[in-house]
Amino acid sequence: MTNEELQAAAKQHLWMHFTRMSAYNNGDIPVIVRGSGPYVYDDKGKRYLDGLAGLFVSMIGHGRTELAEAASKQASELAYFPLWSYAHPSAVQLASRLAELAPGDLNRVFFTTSGSEAVESAWKLAKQYFKLRGEYGRYKVLSRDIAYHGTSMGALAITGLAAIKADYEPLPPGGVRVPNTNFYRAPDFVAGDLEAFGIWAADEIERAILREGPESVAAVYLEPLQNSGGCFPPPPGYFARVRSICDRYGVLLVSDEVICAFGRLGYYFGSERYGYQPDIITFAKGVTSGYAPLGGMIVRDFLIEPFLSGHSTFLHGITFAGHPVSAAVALANLDVFEHDGILSNVRANEGGFRATLEKLRDLPIVGDVRGDGYFYGIELVKDKATKETFDDDESERLLRGFLSHALFEAGLVCRADDRGDPVIQLAPPLICTQEHFDEMEQILRAVLTEAWTKI
Ligand SMILES: Cc1ncc(COP(=O)(O)O)c(C=O)c1O
Repeated sequence: MTNEELQAAAKQHLWMHFTRMSAYNNGDIPVIVRGSGPYVYDDKGKRYLDGLAGLFVSMIGHGRTELAEAASKQASELAYFPLWSYAHPSAVQLASRLAELAPGDLNRVFFTTSGSEAVESAWKLAKQYFKLRGEYGRYKVLSRDIAYHGTSMGALAITGLAAIKADYEPLPPGGVRVPNTNFYRAPDFVAGDLEAFGIWAADEIERAILREGPESVAAVYLEPLQNSGGCFPPPPGYFARVRSICDRYGVLLVSDEVICAFGRLGYYFGSERYGYQPDIITFAKGVTSGYAPLGGMIVRDFLIEPFLSGHSTFLHGITFAGHPVSAAVALANLDVFEHDGILSNVRANEGGFRATLEKLRDLPIVGDVRGDGYFYGIELVKDKATKETFDDDESERLLRGFLSHALFEAGLVCRADDRGDPVIQLAPPLICTQEHFDEMEQILRAVLTEAWTKI
């Protein structure tokens, strides 16, 4: 197909995800045709710095032929066989390797193909586990305001974004919201005191458990560092307190690491960085660096225990879960992590990334810069002193009308989002170094300076 034919066919037949299709009535759909390292190229040959690693996915960057070769080798040997009553070597090897990397006794891996399926699988497991233990009433799940946990019906019930749920109600019952850890917008009585804020936010989980009735609560879903809303790191002590609250009431702690696992925060798992022991880790995205789709959950020994004797069966499965090609690709991806020192690169350079983005604070539109590792959100405000945010019309004009397009035109893939307050999100490939941080800063500075003149 020529570029023109591709464009016409895309407009006629392709339904893009989370995309206002009318935005392309009078303009071209961006078509990305190849990638190399931290850069991608469109159909006209223009280069873009991939400041979002695709969608928090391309950890080792684009164009790594050893992963393509691993896929080809596996497809030639055994392209497909299910994990329903059978095993195949790449899934076994990957499960063992993940169990080795995961903290504590997170030793059992249940594969899926996506993050949403991983989130749902964890909820189904929690419900069944408690039934097998005779705790029949436990089905509810707590999660945080504005947190994104996926789009399938169960995952959407856990997601804390009202705007993307309303059209699909009624959702499965049991989703309960608790406050997130957005310190920039902390309630007045804890504003300015990060530790007190963390204690309050953790204690809100306890209050929600008590309000709902501990005997009805199955699990708490938390990302190590919350993505939606623009990167909310946990305050010091937050996870230790949450862990002890979960233990007190027999509630499972699910660490949704669909974004935060595999190096995003400089560790294989985000829970390692913040020093807490989850009962279940959900993962996807970075496990293959996007060279094939894969997700899953890693669970602690006690959660499989009731299923290891008698007739108990986890009545749950997905045809393509743990696909041999995806599992082989994930193993090759983990080899690259080891050989290329991907985690060390993040740990060595994250300070530089932070310092470079912090420079943007001198712009009048930048209210906050927050994050950890290679994962940052920049909150945009109308008034720095009062932290006044933009109203819906201004957000629409600023984010959708100008920023998203202007940043892309300037050669940076990132995300301008107003799921909470307006933010720009950055999560580049983990191979990036100072030159890429500088490139991001320069593009952001120019485009945000222009944005300010348009308010
Ligand atoms: C924290 C978290 N959980 C779950 C999901 C859903 O993953 P998927 O899009 O693979 O279904 C995402 C996707 O971005 C996510 O960020």
